[in-house]
Amino acid sequence: MTVEIPSTLSEAAAPFAAPKGFLWGTATAAHQVEGNNTASDWWALEHSGSPVITEPSGDAADHFNRWPGDLDLLRDLGLDAYRFSIEWARIEPERGVFSSASLDHYKRMVDGCLERGITPIVTLQHVTLPAWFRRGGGWSATDASDLFSRYTEYVMPAIELGVPWVATINEPNLQPLMTALHNNDPKALNAWNGGPMPVPTEEEITALIAAHKAASAVVRQNSSAKVGWTVSVPDLQYTPEGEVHAQKWFEQYDAPFLRGARGDDFIGLQNYFRTSFDENGLVPLPETARMTDLWEFYPQALGHAVRTAYELTQGLPVLVTENGIPTTDDQLRIEFLDTALRTLGKAIADGVDVRGYLHWSALDNFEWALGYAPKFGLISFDPVTFERTVKPSAHAYAQMVRAARAAGRM
Ligand code: BGC
Repeated sequence: MTVEIPSTLSEAAAPFAAPKGFLWGTATAAHQVEGNNTASDWWALEHSGSPVITEPSGDAADHFNRWPGDLDLLRDLGLDAYRFSIEWARIEPERGVFSSASLDHYKRMVDGCLERGITPIVTLQHVTLPAWFRRGGGWSATDASDLFSRYTEYVMPAIELGVPWVATINEPNLQPLMTALHNNDPKALNAWNGGPMPVPTEEEITALIAAHKAASAVVRQNSSAKVGWTVSVPDLQYTPEGEVHAQKWFEQYDAPFLRGARGDDFIGLQNYFRTSFDENGLVPLPETARMTDLWEFYPQALGHAVRTAYELTQGLPVLVTENGIPTTDDQLRIEFLDTALRTLGKAIADGVDVRGYLHWSALDNFEWALGYAPKFGLISFDPVTFERTVKPSAHAYAQMVRAARAAGRM
């Protein structure tokens, strides 16, 4: 397989000198790769005739069964961290009914990481919820926090095996969109068609922060893991007249969740693009914009977003828990990685405390309502045989990692 590496990239030209102990890895989420997550709200949504769903998740990448081989591939690439999620709907498929077999599955995954020298980073809730929890009102139910804590307590034996980083809730700022989707609220359809995203209400924000803090307390009582949550952090760019619009946007969608992270052990940061404002508000992408398969190609956003997260959380260590590109052009992924990592390096050089970078995603996967068309993976799979193919971009990423580690040792 030929890999065309950008001219800037060689063993001598590392994207940056990695600080000691810097984690290099990839991320996935259970529903997007495991397959057959039948007790989840998303499985129900996929089979409900919802107009936003392109195709059902089905077997996904069969990562539920094939995770050992996938971890072998990641280890062979020289990556030393893997973020995955424990699926609440498998652990507690009906309210109060817990599956010890499912817990064993995730314990084996944690052990499997440790055996391969890979640091496991575990998310407790990534987009999907048990269908029963969603039916009962989701995060707005009065007992939501207690139920999430009870589930967290149940999975602690997996964490206690040696998970050093735990994220409670993934992208709390997207939860109102999820609620709208599951309620068939026209706001969801509108957002999917490019309209504004539902704005989190005070009640929703309070409930999510309460659930996050309660689960964090459970993790702290039972383990020495660092605990935080993973927030989608924008790169806001604006003209002087656009600043007021940008600030309003930030306060509505993101700032409450970053402030809600204060007191945590770290902030998980996720970023994919920039968002621009002028005197009229959000600026539509110009015809000339360089595009990925879904949005603008702008890898520099990562370096800007880590600074924002660091500032607003008052200096929490930052773990980049997601950053990546939807593209069938693997060469573009290589360019994305190279530029994104360089801008990350500049932020580190300027004093931002970044502890690791987890590329989204290890595997091509189920991109929610968009189905399997968007390709975020460093590794692809055949949907019938599930055979894996390591893409050139995975090898290029591995080379960037080697160079960054070597530069860090010098
Ligand atoms: C989510 C992932 C998703 C990715 C790319 C993030 O919002 O956490 O589940 O696949 O973005 O859209």
